[in-house]
Amino acid sequence: MYLYLYSFAILIFITGVESMKSSSVVVIGHRGASGYLPEHTLPAKALAYGQGVDYLEQDVALSKDNIPIVIHDIYLDEISNVATAFRGQNRSNGRYYVIDFTAAEIKTLRASERFNHETGKPIFSGRFPLNQSTFHLVTLAEELEFIAGLNKANIDNNKQVGVYVEIKEPQFHQDENRSNMSEIVLDILKKYNYTKRTDNIYLQCFKIEELRRIRVELKSDLKLIGLLTDNKYRSEYSKTDFKYWTSSVGIEEMSQFVNGIGPHYKQLFQENNGLQPTELYTAARKSNLLIHPYTFRSDDVQQPFTTFDNMLQYFINELKIDGLFTDQPDKAIKYIKSKQEQHNKGIKLENFSFSILIISFLLTK
Ligand SMILES: *[C@@H]1O[C@H](CO)[C@@H](O)[C@H](O)[C@H]1NC(C)=O
Ligand SMILES: *[C@@H]1O[C@H](CO)[C@@H](O)[C@H](O)[C@H]1NC(C)=O
Ligand SMILES: *[C@@H]1O[C@H](CO)[C@@H](O)[C@H](O)[C@H]1NC(C)=O
Ligand SMILES: *[C@@H]1O[C@H](CO)[C@@H](O)[C@H](O)[C@H]1NC(C)=O
Ligand SMILES: *[C@@H]1O[C@H](CO)[C@@H](O)[C@H](O)[C@H]1NC(C)=O
Ligand SMILES: *[C@@H]1O[C@H](CO)[C@@H](O)[C@H](O)[C@H]1NC(C)=O
Repeated sequence: MYLYLYSFAILIFITGVESMKSSSVVVIGHRGASGYLPEHTLPAKALAYGQGVDYLEQDVALSKDNIPIVIHDIYLDEISNVATAFRGQNRSNGRYYVIDFTAAEIKTLRASERFNHETGKPIFSGRFPLNQSTFHLVTLAEELEFIAGLNKANIDNNKQVGVYVEIKEPQFHQDENRSNMSEIVLDILKKYNYTKRTDNIYLQCFKIEELRRIRVELKSDLKLIGLLTDNKYRSEYSKTDFKYWTSSVGIEEMSQFVNGIGPHYKQLFQENNGLQPTELYTAARKSNLLIHPYTFRSDDVQQPFTTFDNMLQYFINELKIDGLFTDQPDKAIKYIKSKQEQHNKGIKLENFSFSILIISFLLTK
């Protein structure tokens, strides 16, 4: 009789342990809730904020007058009407560069959903329509002020959303005589009280050498994230050797001045008899680096994953990543909450089975 009770308790215990596999993973609104509204506009940031992100991302490029602008590229011609508003003010390759326009000029542009500058076709056809409603680009200072305002108004909610700033293309900016771009950005962050490791901010960059300069020469205490890619995908201005920086030796070296890595999610696994973690993943874990892969898109789920949840399950529950960049924060947060509920149920089951164990133990006495 008690044997049955014991077995029953143990069975429930095992079920509980299964659903207790939980994790704390931070959700970073990639260019805001860019799956729903034009990237890097304040409405896209507000939506992501309302959806419950932990961090909002800001990519930064400098204007002609050295003002950091929140924009994903050093070009203006794939997210705005610059080619009609400032026709002819392109460079010889036909492109319109952020650095050739003042902040005041950039603020007169209409921002839009991303499109291909040659074909005019949207990158994601299912997203917000091109040229509809009205959106604008903002400076980094304006966006930090916006987030500080939301955090102030949201104080009762016991949640303060952080910022996740990327210094874009330091090499390009250096070639344009803006070698102090990082100093300019750090100065603004300081104005908004982002100075310490404990502050609610990450600073990210694909130029790993620049992160070392920020830590060692500029003596910044901020949490730094080394963005990673494959050499074949790096920008035409980049000289960073990702073959080295994604190797075990590179990761160990990087861990002396960064707090984490931001790889493409495909750099974390290989297909070999199921999915196996890569050397990069293992090295990052060994060096105690945070792992924040990019970019989780529910409208662009790629093989070997079949659904967005299936993809999230692998990264969050199997690899136990520490954070993720997503264009659809609501969907990632919904997944994480459902796992959290399962986790809580698991604890209840544990406690229940533990009580049964005690009772059966007392009864046998
Ligand atoms: C959007 O506006 C631009 C001008 O800024 C124009 O060149 C383009 O054809 C428009 N695209 C659509 C789909 O309306
Ligand atoms: C702007 O781009 C066009 C081609 O799109 C090119 O013919 C022209 O020379 C470029 N302008 C400058 C100033 O280089
Ligand atoms: C950068 O500065 C150097 C020296 O002052 C000058 O020769 C060069 O043309 C400048 N380059 C750019 C892109 O402004
Ligand atoms: C960056 O360099 C420019 C030009 O040399 C200078 O005017 C500016 O004060 C510098 N800014 C910072 C924050 O170092
Ligand atoms: C930064 O912190 C100081 C001191 O706590 C405070 O007075 C100031 O308002 C803060 N600035 C911003 C932009 O939050
Ligand atoms: C389970 O028991 C622990 C103490 O043993 C308690 O802290 C926790 O709140 C209980 N959890 C649930 C869900 O009842």
